[in-house]
Amino acid sequence: MNITDKNIIILDEVESTNNYAKQLIADKAEEGTVVLAHYQENGKGQQGNFWESEANKNLLFSLILYPNWLGAGKQFLISKVVSLALVEVLKIKIEDVSIKWPNDIYVGSKKIAGILIENTIKGTNLESSVIGIGLNVNQELFVSSAPNPISLKQLTGNYFQIQSVLNEFIATFYSLLNDLKQGNYSKINETYLLNLFGNNEWRLYRKEGKEFVARIVEIGNFGQLKLEEKSGLISEFMFKEVEFVVL
Ligand code: BTN
Repeated sequence: MNITDKNIIILDEVESTNNYAKQLIADKAEEGTVVLAHYQENGKGQQGNFWESEANKNLLFSLILYPNWLGAGKQFLISKVVSLALVEVLKIKIEDVSIKWPNDIYVGSKKIAGILIENTIKGTNLESSVIGIGLNVNQELFVSSAPNPISLKQLTGNYFQIQSVLNEFIATFYSLLNDLKQGNYSKINETYLLNLFGNNEWRLYRKEGKEFVARIVEIGNFGQLKLEEKSGLISEFMFKEVEFVVL
């Protein structure tokens, strides 16, 4: 599925595509509307961080969905589908792509894409979802304090057409979203786990300054990370409650 002209709003400059999309939702925008920007003055990252992106170099967009068919308790499945669609698109172009829990897209030990999903809930189900994605495409120099950014251009030496990458993402995303609508949760959960950074490895984690060795068992419906220690003890962590120790 490609996006039609009617579904895409292209802006030279905007404060944040996510905020713009939320305003469109308030104005009853159609499901599937995409807001694409060449530059964001205040691109939002997770945890209130700023998302660095040089003008005209990267893919910056937000997609509007109304997933009222999905229980609020299952909302992390949307995040899984978004991460998997990005991984699928990137794997065609580069190697060593993975998802760093909960939803950073990595190439080796560097971050190539970030995802910021903002949901509203009505009753027991989701009402709206703004899926914001920043994918580093053609930028060659990063200047912010973000620890480890990388772009497709830096990895391959090639220039990529930003809107073609967007179309590839959209097609892949809708196909995976269809699996979600059909209730194929186990397929999504398994593929997400398979593509997870550190999956199937005993690795060092840190919680409140204390390091321990564990391996990933699964990611729960709320996005919680379930880790098993060598003693067999299984514990659950929400985002930022635990960190990977990078040696
Ligand atoms: C992260 O911190 O990893 C998430 C980054 C998400 C950035 C994208 S860029 C397009 C969309 N609009 C925003 O303001 N943020 C997201």
